[in-house]
Amino acid sequence: MMALRHRLTILAAATVGVTVVLISVVAYVVLRGELRGQVDDSLAAQYQQARENRLLLRPMGRGERFPPPPARDGGPSGPVQVFDLDGDVVVEAQGDLVIPIDDADRAVAAGSRPPLLRDVSSDGVQLRVLTVPLARGHGAVQFVRSYGNVNATLSRLRLVLALLCAGGTLLAALFGRLFGRQVIHPVSELTAAAEHITQTQDLGRRIEVPGDDEVGRMAARFNTMLDTLESSRRALDASVHAQRQLVADASHELRTPVTSLRTNIEVLLIGGDLPEDDRRRLLEDVRAETEELGALITDVIELARGDEPLSGVEEVQLDALVGEAIARAQRRRPGVVFDAELDRTVVEGLPERLGRAVDNLLDNAAKYGGDDSVVEVSLHGGELSVRDHGPGIDEADRPHVFDRFYRGQTARGRPGSGLGLAIVRQVAETHGGSIAVHEGAGGGARFVLALPVLAPGAAASASG
Ligand SMILES: Nc1ncnc2c1ncn2[C@@H]1O[C@H](COP(=O)(O)OP(=O)(O)O)[C@@H](O)[C@H]1O
Ligand SMILES: [Mg+2]
Repeated sequence: MMALRHRLTILAAATVGVTVVLISVVAYVVLRGELRGQVDDSLAAQYQQARENRLLLRPMGRGERFPPPPARDGGPSGPVQVFDLDGDVVVEAQGDLVIPIDDADRAVAAGSRPPLLRDVSSDGVQLRVLTVPLARGHGAVQFVRSYGNVNATLSRLRLVLALLCAGGTLLAALFGRLFGRQVIHPVSELTAAAEHITQTQDLGRRIEVPGDDEVGRMAARFNTMLDTLESSRRALDASVHAQRQLVADASHELRTPVTSLRTNIEVLLIGGDLPEDDRRRLLEDVRAETEELGALITDVIELARGDEPLSGVEEVQLDALVGEAIARAQRRRPGVVFDAELDRTVVEGLPERLGRAVDNLLDNAAKYGGDDSVVEVSLHGGELSVRDHGPGIDEADRPHVFDRFYRGQTARGRPGSGLGLAIVRQVAETHGGSIAVHEGAGGGARFVLALPVLAPGAAASASG
């Protein structure tokens, strides 16, 4: 396919070319007719004058002259030739001009046909000849005019028109090319940008918006599209990076429990004469380690999945969901007292993930608060507060506890993966909320999970 720019050039040139040629042809034809008409008019005027002067009623003597036509009909007359009935020349035309006489001319002289107007060529000169009869039996007169001037004018005209056609077409092609380039410029730029992006994968390139016409709008759209692509690719990169980081962290963290598990199993395999008590303890360790490993893997999967945008959200009765979570925590830690004060609250989200986050907060509170401690849970205005009376969180640990695999001072010697609070933060953020940790008045930790509320209720319902 030809380049758009070339097609525009050709279109402009062809349009102008055809128009100029048409106009030229019409002008030429009209002008030629006009000029030839003038020659005929002057011959007719000369004939008229001769008749008015009664010059045609008698035979012509040698050397006799006919009056020229009036100035307005072409001025000085052309040559005149007279011949008799036999076709023999009686009066020769001036300037050695030989005017051919044929049967038609003789028929005019004989009076058997009306005056005759025709084109004649003599010695390469084109002539217009009007043959009119003299009075009966005296022969005929031929008034002659050369087409020389007319032809010269016409050939000059042909040259001028041809030049005009060629020049006009050329000029149109030139302008077409110039404007075409101007019009096409943003399109070529667009193409170049697209090619550049295809080759380099560089989405940072933008093209200049030339105005608010179609091309300008297209350029603007293109830029907007690149903006969208760029930001979505940045998000994708970030997510891929996060996933990669998670995999790296997870494989690192999994190594320790797997190693310890293998060591224990190897000891069990080799130690045939191990005392029964030690054997049981080792097996117990293996069981606990396997359980922890399972929990760790569940958490990693949870974190990895949680990066995806929320889909299938529904209205969640948050107070009921927290109540169920408390019941679950209670079953796991019968010694802990959960003191709940929950307002009716509806949020939008995934109940499974929200439940998971609340589980993690309650588990931490129970774990770090210790048996027989009290955990206060309250839900007011979309803020879920979980407060325990344990050691609290060290000032230095506080900024990091929501990082994955981070375990604080308080975690020493306790089971856990360091992923619980990371999951809570992820759930809070994907639901448009936030998570924060404070020091409880009089010690202990107080976690506050804030979520955007759909229908904050006034009626409080308590459960323990
Ligand atoms: N209620 C709490 N009281 C004291 N420290 C806490 C509490 N909750 C979390 N932490 C600290 O934050 C760290 C991260 O918590 P988490 O992500 O749940 O990991 P894990 O509980 O597996 O150690 C814990 O290791 C602990 O040091
Ligand atoms: Mg935890």
